[in-house]
Amino acid sequence: MSFHLESPLLYCARIFDMRRRNFLGLVIGAVAFALSGFKTAKAKTAKAKTAADLKGPITKIAFGSCCIQDGPQPIWDVIAKSAPDVFLFIGDNIYADTEDMTLMANKYKMLGKKPGFARFRNATPVLATWDDHDYGINDGGLEYPKKEESKKLMLDFFGEPAKSERRQRPGIYTSYYLGPKGKKLQIILLDLRWFRTALNYDKAIDGYKPDPSPKATILGEKQWEWLAAELKKPADLRLIASSTQFVSPDHKWEKWANFPIDKKRMIDLLDENKITNAIFISGDMHYAELSAETSPKGFKIYDLTASGMNLVENGSQYPNRYRISLYDKTPHFGLIEIDWQKSSANLALKVISDKGKTVISDKVSYPIA
Ligand SMILES: [Fe+2]
Repeated sequence: MSFHLESPLLYCARIFDMRRRNFLGLVIGAVAFALSGFKTAKAKTAKAKTAADLKGPITKIAFGSCCIQDGPQPIWDVIAKSAPDVFLFIGDNIYADTEDMTLMANKYKMLGKKPGFARFRNATPVLATWDDHDYGINDGGLEYPKKEESKKLMLDFFGEPAKSERRQRPGIYTSYYLGPKGKKLQIILLDLRWFRTALNYDKAIDGYKPDPSPKATILGEKQWEWLAAELKKPADLRLIASSTQFVSPDHKWEKWANFPIDKKRMIDLLDENKITNAIFISGDMHYAELSAETSPKGFKIYDLTASGMNLVENGSQYPNRYRISLYDKTPHFGLIEIDWQKSSANLALKVISDKGKTVISDKVSYPIA
């Protein structure tokens, strides 16, 4: 198959259009593109590992987002070097941005033919949820008319079994329950697109403001009911993958804080269930950061954002009162290492650069009952 090639300038301009963001911050992506060029591959995806290949206990989870299929993706070989048990692809896995399903299918094919990705998924199970661009529309929600078709393409690409529950119900949210007692990890992949009501766009700021209306929702009632039941299952550690940021409240783009009732509902749900062992991971922003806020009951809620597997922009221009650390220089991915001890799960929360350097690192420990 032949791929459509773009000039670096066009590539840069198109990404600018996608995000309506600071153009200068995107120069790194364009330069990387210009230097690297394109490579096609003959790699096959037939042997791709899936959730069925996952075996517990899980000790290393890599994750990432914002991975444009038109650009080079050398990051996969760097992720492979960290030898994760599983990779969570948490949104903007391709930039489809279309209602043309042939075009969307071709963009998944482009990702599948990336040599690094093809090698990686043949060795490591990849679990995925989507964000707006792979869902099909920039900053889109429930109104997107091709969501059924887009869901099928996405689940087919990531090897979802034909009889999976995920295929039977609306949306693509799901969970995985891995490892033995005492090392039980629950991975929750949320769907922030299928049910999401309209954003509250404010022309004056060219961005989004919180919508306090009781009808405004990011997850939708069905997904909330499912999540409430999931959080009642016992687990020694929980990872909640949210394609947009959960904690960061101050920038004008997409985030949970745009839906204050839903954000409070999530925090209340954790507090009511006395859940103190949950970590959010997120993407979407084209930079990495670790944020933390404290719930009313005193639970410290971490949100590790790793976003920009081949797209990067200046994150320091976006305020975040809960920011602990920031990385916005080069492509990167997130890495969570778990040291399972008898009475605690000791975690290292990391972001690793495209050069394999640890650029964000923090430690957190959760007791095991
Ligand atoms: Fe996004």
